[in-house]
Amino acid sequence: MADMSHDEHLLGAFRPTLDEVDLPATVISGVLPPELDGEYLRNGPNPRFTPVGSYLYPLEGDGMVHAVMLRDGQVRYRNRFVRTPMIEREEAAGHVLWPGLMSGRAGQLPTAEEVGPDLAGSFRDMPDINVVRHSGRVMAMAEGSTPFCLGPDLATLGRETFDGALPVGMTAHPKIDPVTGEMLVFCYMLEAPYLTWSIIDRTGRVVRADTPVAGVDRPVMIHDMALTEHSVVLVLSPLFFDVMAAMRGGSMLSWEPDEGTRVAIVPRDGSPVRWAHGDTFWTWHMANAFSRPGQDGSPSSVDSPIVLDMVQHSDPGMGMGRGTHTSAFVRTTVDPVAGTIAHEEIEAGRLEFPRIDDRRLGSAHRRVAVGYRTATAPAVMGAFDAVRVFDTATGSAQQWTSDGLVGEPSFAPRPGSTAPDDGWWLDIVADPAGVAPSRLVVLDAADVSAGPVATVQLPVRVPLGLHGNWLPGQE
Ligand SMILES: [Fe+2]
Repeated sequence: MADMSHDEHLLGAFRPTLDEVDLPATVISGVLPPELDGEYLRNGPNPRFTPVGSYLYPLEGDGMVHAVMLRDGQVRYRNRFVRTPMIEREEAAGHVLWPGLMSGRAGQLPTAEEVGPDLAGSFRDMPDINVVRHSGRVMAMAEGSTPFCLGPDLATLGRETFDGALPVGMTAHPKIDPVTGEMLVFCYMLEAPYLTWSIIDRTGRVVRADTPVAGVDRPVMIHDMALTEHSVVLVLSPLFFDVMAAMRGGSMLSWEPDEGTRVAIVPRDGSPVRWAHGDTFWTWHMANAFSRPGQDGSPSSVDSPIVLDMVQHSDPGMGMGRGTHTSAFVRTTVDPVAGTIAHEEIEAGRLEFPRIDDRRLGSAHRRVAVGYRTATAPAVMGAFDAVRVFDTATGSAQQWTSDGLVGEPSFAPRPGSTAPDDGWWLDIVADPAGVAPSRLVVLDAADVSAGPVATVQLPVRVPLGLHGNWLPGQE
């Protein structure tokens, strides 16, 4: 088995931490907005033991959730592993028991002798991608399996299946409708029906369970989704699962760019899925989608054109591309009636993690913040050194460049204000060398180029991670 300890996603700012702490943090510059009351949670891959065989960033690793709690001008930091049965079994063994997905052993799941009868033949749970609050639950989300619920102190409470209604799990990128409070999710799977979607109401009751998306005849990997007032929007790029190849010792994932990219428009009322087809692109993350009203001012319908803002890539990376990797922030228009996809490139560049003011999810939005890589940042997937905010109304952009490496910006709305984009972008800045403690920065959403209005020195380093969310204390 390969030695993974020199993988670039296990070194420097990505280097996992084994320390779990609960300590005060200090404002070192500026003033924290006194209205900011709540906690910023962020998840990310943080392998408990050095992986064997392969380490496929950003899909593998154990989950570690970091919390920065702001209350009455005081700041506290806490972090905890998401304690899955797999971590507990590996801790008992003292080493990793599940091989990496690309190790050539992915088709050979651990035996009862290796991991015990209850976990034999099971894939590793990896709730390391996102952390989301809905219906009173705080959930660490995995790429296509069940979330794990966390307690107020970040202790892992257990697997969340919503009273058994969603036993297979869901995407790590559910979307919560700010109007209805519903959480919409999809789930892909290796066997038919390959792709399903579900609705969980604001109380946590599953009101539509595992409804197949008709027209999907192969297992396909989809990382994110978008939501409109009328539809769930799923982008099906040609990244397929190849279980037979994995069983033969090959790659579990197959990038087939000659196949084109399809978009499924899945009406939330359960009516037939609309499909659009276009040239091949890959997307990890979408900022938002919304249905365009009629030119005569008539309200939108399920058949209205959908505007979809996302980061598009020429290929998924991870060693799969056939040429030069390109990426851009793109506004795509999908016509559910004509079945067409049209792209308008807003800006090319190395960028990822697009977010909006989530109170606008599913409706027309204006500003989109991303993690952005300037020329001085290391050319490593997932490494960004600036927060850049696109104004889709004017076509302009603002940027704050840090002296370290940033992650996904998360929006914290100003309490009491309903004005879109009124609030702050939160982000954690990491030391590129992976030595110095990290900082939380608070950027005024009206002018990120002015730099942080407050910087908080965290007590420890926080490895670069994936997705997070601001959870207001009032909820
Ligand atoms: Fe993601």
